[in-house]
Amino acid sequence: MIRHFLRDDDLTPAEQREVLELAAVLKRDRFSARPLEGPRSVAVIFDKTSTRTRVSFHVGISELGGSPLIISTASSQLGGKETASDTARVLERQVAAIVWRTYAQSGLEEMANGAIVPVVNALSDDFHPCQLLADLLTVNEHLGETAGRTLVFLGDGESNMGHSYLLACATAGMHVRIAAPVGYQPRADVVADAERIAAQTGGSVTVGENIDELVAGADVVVTDTWVSMGREDEKQRRIDALSAYRVTEETMGKAAEGAIFLHCLPADRGYEVDAAVIDGPQSVIWDEAENRLHAQKALLVWLLAKAAA
Ligand code: CP
Ligand code: NVA
Repeated sequence: MIRHFLRDDDLTPAEQREVLELAAVLKRDRFSARPLEGPRSVAVIFDKTSTRTRVSFHVGISELGGSPLIISTASSQLGGKETASDTARVLERQVAAIVWRTYAQSGLEEMANGAIVPVVNALSDDFHPCQLLADLLTVNEHLGETAGRTLVFLGDGESNMGHSYLLACATAGMHVRIAAPVGYQPRADVVADAERIAAQTGGSVTVGENIDELVAGADVVVTDTWVSMGREDEKQRRIDALSAYRVTEETMGKAAEGAIFLHCLPADRGYEVDAAVIDGPQSVIWDEAENRLHAQKALLVWLLAKAAA
């Protein structure tokens, strides 16, 4: 059966653990799995700009023995000239998997609908699930068992990162808190989905405005840009609305002792986070960025094994 990874809760808690355990194995023994030897190709399509996602998929597919086919939408027929569905019908006969960074989640759903190869969300307006696999791997490396840990996200809670933290951390059995002002809080349906998952995993979900209460005792403090790709027109309004949610050394002082700081990057120092924090001793952002490689390799190996079963 073909499995896709369009949102974080496309993996059950047990499946998420399996992928993360495989990621740790592939990190320890980086060249041990070559399921794409042949080589088989994987299409990686970008409607938006990228550094980490582009590099980690390219390197990861190569290390798995495959051939990465990096496609910029601007130089392809996708995006105006051809539908996602027709694109899938063409690609699926030639590649082992399709990875796509795009705007609307509905485009990914259209791409995956009936596709005979796995489709992976490499960031949409709504979710960034590959990033969360890397983040959970990083939390595990620095703090041990993720279940039962508390993570607080400050800032733009209605963004892809806010939504993905809700779903992925609930799946991992974590206590996930979103600190965001009204108007920037996560979508109600995503909160409800995360609450349903947390009820099964022993995690919990809290959304609110009170920074002090939400940061208190957190093991992991995270934030993301206030101006996500596609939201550039709203820049000043977002800075005004979110400035109280900047992660400062004072914020970190309210978290648990030994708390770590994560940021998916790219970062705007002095806006969502102070340089003293992101470049300081609690920050593990470079491990997090590297872990994109290991987490996505594990995800591809796992999805391709399911597709072959
Ligand atoms: N974190 C992340 O997805 O980075 P890029 O936009 O550089 O891919
Ligand atoms: N929320 C950010 C994440 C970048 C990796 C964006 O969508 O631009």
